[in-house]
Amino acid sequence: MSHVPADAYPNGFLWGTATAAHQVEGGNVHNDWWAFEHAPGTPCVEPSGDACDSWHRWPEDVELVASLGLNAYRFSLEWSRIEPEDGEWSRAALEHYRRQCARCHELGLVPVVTLNHFTIPGWVAARGGWEWSEGPERFARFCRRAGEYLGDLVGWACTLNEPNVVSMMGYSWGVFPPAVRDADRRRAVTAALCRGHVLAVEELRAGPGAYPVGLTLSMTDYQAMPGGEEDMDGMRRDNEDVFLEATAGDDFVGVQCYSRLRVGPEGMLGPEPGVPVTQMGYEYWPQAVEATVRRAWEFTGGTPVVVTENGISTSDDTERIAFVTDALAGVRRCLADGIDVRGYFYWSLLDNFEWVLGYRPRFGLVEVDPATFERRPKPSAGWFGSVGRSQGTR
Ligand code: BGC
Repeated sequence: MSHVPADAYPNGFLWGTATAAHQVEGGNVHNDWWAFEHAPGTPCVEPSGDACDSWHRWPEDVELVASLGLNAYRFSLEWSRIEPEDGEWSRAALEHYRRQCARCHELGLVPVVTLNHFTIPGWVAARGGWEWSEGPERFARFCRRAGEYLGDLVGWACTLNEPNVVSMMGYSWGVFPPAVRDADRRRAVTAALCRGHVLAVEELRAGPGAYPVGLTLSMTDYQAMPGGEEDMDGMRRDNEDVFLEATAGDDFVGVQCYSRLRVGPEGMLGPEPGVPVTQMGYEYWPQAVEATVRRAWEFTGGTPVVVTENGISTSDDTERIAFVTDALAGVRRCLADGIDVRGYFYWSLLDNFEWVLGYRPRFGLVEVDPATFERRPKPSAGWFGSVGRSQGTR
């Protein structure tokens, strides 16, 4: 990165890496995903089990992020641990996350807290999840409680992680719980998620602390091939635009992006011959970050953007470095054009539980030994930290 001028990124730019509770903590037995992983006939290849044992090893994780030279850590709260039954609050779980936030501050890391990353408590799922008429209010109540307890230590808050993925995968593709394929139900869930977000923003803002609050969205570099324009607009409308509209008035929008999607007259096209694909089956397309940051900025009329997730699943760590190098070049072009990008988070700190695909995809900067949970940083971890340090994180 020696060719990148030391002031290419603005002061205070967040250089971080991200995880999510269910993907790293282990033993989250009271949520809908745990049930889904164990239900017969679901597409899950394996259960999450102990994951990376971060419920116990979080101090090591936080220290690792700081030792790389980064200045931010994004992690999520597990709602089912904090509110294991309707209205029953676990002070111990809240305290656990409070210690995690406090430790981040001690180590010079901005804690970027996601209130909900896909999983919902079993008692919410049993009442219909996001289809339950009171679902958004219950989520907002959870946010109020979490905000009251943690707000003074929160650096930035993301309400929902990728609600568009929850709605698409859960109610259109049938590969996330509750594994439904129903356009009407999906539309209702989309509306509920957007409402949950708006209520959550209000609750968090009303509590202690004065931190930026936003929504994170899965965004794709949609590309229409001749004749595919109408289909592409329709897909993008359902998958992204309705959610982007729900971010009006937010402090930032979290862009999470992994690849592009080409759409032709017959709908979605597969990877273009000649373009390599990652372990996820996505086209290797680091340019997608630039395209989606630009779109989020334009669509929202200038809401600051944080790249809250970008990364690649590969067992070739050199490829990871090349991918992030190109993605960051795109971020710099956005900055040069005056787009207010506030940070970049690599997904993920650890090789972790990749939902239905289990532990096979390797997104991590750090490898985790499944038997001992030992963390072994890959070369990309040191490299990414040095990029941050060269821009003044430490
Ligand atoms: C999600 C993560 C996931 C990652 C890679 C995002 O959609 O927020 O939970 O692991 O992409 O697929």
